[in-house]
Amino acid sequence: MDDIKTHVTLRDLQESDVEDFMQWAADDEVTKHVSWETHKSNAETIDFISTIIKPHPWFKAICLDGTPIGSISLTPGSGIHCCRAELGYVLARKYWRKGITSQAARLAVSAAFDDLKLERVEALVEPTNVASKRVLEKAGLECVGLERRYILVKGSLRDSLLFSISSEKYKLSAA
Ligand SMILES: CC(C)(COP(=O)(O)OP(=O)(O)OC[C@H]1O[C@@H](n2cnc3c(N)ncnc32)[C@H](O)[C@@H]1OP(=O)(O)O)[C@@H](O)C(=O)NCCC(=O)NCCS
Repeated sequence: MDDIKTHVTLRDLQESDVEDFMQWAADDEVTKHVSWETHKSNAETIDFISTIIKPHPWFKAICLDGTPIGSISLTPGSGIHCCRAELGYVLARKYWRKGITSQAARLAVSAAFDDLKLERVEALVEPTNVASKRVLEKAGLECVGLERRYILVKGSLRDSLLFSISSEKYKLSAA
């Protein structure tokens, strides 16, 4: 395939994407670092799309040549935290290590600053999640600290690295 970047697009998800969505959501290897549980049925995924994704302010399918193969989200804070959003993503396993999520993350960072007019994009990642740390670095985020026993995921307290990028840094890198 020629430059993978030209094949990666983001779009809204619909209930009709359920079969594609299960390619990543039903895989324990994909969900092991995320807060939500592995999906067990199409019905569960359809409910997730209806009740969580559709009302979400920015939750997109990562598409390769138009087919959804993963998802990416920017979750804005509320109240005094409204100037920033948390970035999250997952990709179906058979597409790993081709540069697809790095490109999707770059598109999400652009959307956060150019469209949503946020001041900062952040992400929390487990120190052992080498691929995710690299995705964030390639999208321009930098590690700003380690929080120990920071989040409760699937019954265990996990350490988190905090990554972030400011709108100022984004504009300088885009200039
Ligand atoms: C994290 C994840 C989305 C990465 O997606 P991806 O499309 O494979 O990432 P990319 O191909 O863009 O790779 C980004 C970088 O990470 C590296 N990388 C990818 N997988 C890796 C691995 N298992 N070990 C070491 N490096 C890895 C790539 O080589 C690349 O770095 P490089 O350009 O310097 O060579 C994917 O592994 C995934 O879905 N994991 C499970 C869900 C998850 O962890 N989500 C994030 C929660 S914080």
